[in-house]
Amino acid sequence: MTDALAEVLAAGFHLGHGHRHGLGIVVLALLVLAVVVAAVLLRRRARARRPIGEPPPPPVPPVPPSAPAPPAAPRAVPVPPPPPPPPSPPGDGQVLPGQLVPRPAAPSATVGAVAGRHARRGEPTIEAVGLTKRFGQKVAVDGLSFHLEPGRVTGFLGPNGAGKSTTMRLIMGLDRPDAGSVTVNGRPYHDLAWPLREVGALLEAKAIHPGRSARAHLVMLAKTNRIPRRRVDEVLGIVGLTSVAGQRVGQYSLGMGQRLGIAAALLGDPGILMFDEPVNGLDTDGIRWVRQLLRNLAAEGRTVFVSSHLMSEMAQTADELVVIGRGRLIAQEPVAEFTSRYAKGYVRVRSPQLDVLRSALEAAGATVEPGQDRSLSVRGMSQDAIGEVAWRQSILLHELAPRSASLEEAFMESTEGNVEFGGERRLAPGDVQEVPS
Ligand SMILES: Nc1ncnc2c1ncn2[C@@H]1O[C@H](COP(=O)(O)OP(=O)(O)O)[C@@H](O)[C@H]1O
Ligand SMILES: [Mg+2]
Repeated sequence: MTDALAEVLAAGFHLGHGHRHGLGIVVLALLVLAVVVAAVLLRRRARARRPIGEPPPPPVPPVPPSAPAPPAAPRAVPVPPPPPPPPSPPGDGQVLPGQLVPRPAAPSATVGAVAGRHARRGEPTIEAVGLTKRFGQKVAVDGLSFHLEPGRVTGFLGPNGAGKSTTMRLIMGLDRPDAGSVTVNGRPYHDLAWPLREVGALLEAKAIHPGRSARAHLVMLAKTNRIPRRRVDEVLGIVGLTSVAGQRVGQYSLGMGQRLGIAAALLGDPGILMFDEPVNGLDTDGIRWVRQLLRNLAAEGRTVFVSSHLMSEMAQTADELVVIGRGRLIAQEPVAEFTSRYAKGYVRVRSPQLDVLRSALEAAGATVEPGQDRSLSVRGMSQDAIGEVAWRQSILLHELAPRSASLEEAFMESTEGNVEFGGERRLAPGDVQEVPS
């Protein structure tokens, strides 16, 4: 090539002055272009070789349209490779959740070792300080401070309109706070070099082009964060959408859309995952699947933040709670502590001599509420004491069962007496499921 160049240059010197000058510039420009192209190609090859887990290079890539990314805290347990694709769902557009295979369930011993229900307070992966967001006169998030830690599922609980989705959007940099701040692994979301690799999120409002297929959508997201294409097939398998991955997203059911959103959140194998009302639109099997997925992700040492207005859902899924009402923090503490602090249990009693029993219990100082099915809910007296009162008065009992307090009761109780929450305390009918006791 050098010889050829020399010939061209030599030929150039036999030309006139003006021509020689012009040819020299062209050759120089070609040389510079060749060097630039070679440098770009070399960089691309180096990047393509780096696996997902490795830290990204310094230059900041384009920020993808969705998915937040908190900084990955060191994981106590290495993340296992995703399982083989599950059996394919039916092709009629409806995915049966029971057919889906989430990440393999972690043994409970691992959960205890890694996360622990009351794990040591380590470095927070997400930290909100005085976070505030207004929409006109409406204060959606009001001086909210909380922190999330890895290895546990933190439930984000509050009635509809409490500010959960807005808070998650603020974490993901989709909204700008009016006051306060929130960081992901110590940095604002927009400062993360490869957001999808640090934080994945399923947010309520999905902005996926309806004409695009699930696979095309995920491939596009993967490209923006230099995630290998094979990871797209992995996450499609994890959420059970493999057989319908070529279908247009516009034809998806609500549940399938949720699964696609979860796949997008998992795409970068991030250390932090956020899910905004993930069980909306899912049937019972789907709900169980999501619950297990969240538990497994936390067992792998990830930070899992999941919002819900369903108290019973949180009671079964979360280790810890961040409870908000009208944009303000009500509590951040383990589920059991929140429940025992704010909700008091009762004893359910059934008897063919209900009226006599009621009088006897009230005379003994208990608070008694009649139920609809000829039962009594007794508070302020233990199961044993109730049994003794009945025995002394020769009252026949058909049932004497302690009932634990529900998270719903705890939430109602925690906002009781707080005038600020008075108007919104009650959840909409159908919002609340009883906690099975
Ligand atoms: N883009 C917006 N414009 C105006 N008001 C909003 C907007 N987003 C949320 N809000 C209001 O902020 C409050 C909190 O909403 P949201 O964060 O969606 O609550 P949650 O997710 O807990 O149900 C609600 O009163 C809601 O109407
Ligand atoms: Mg919401």
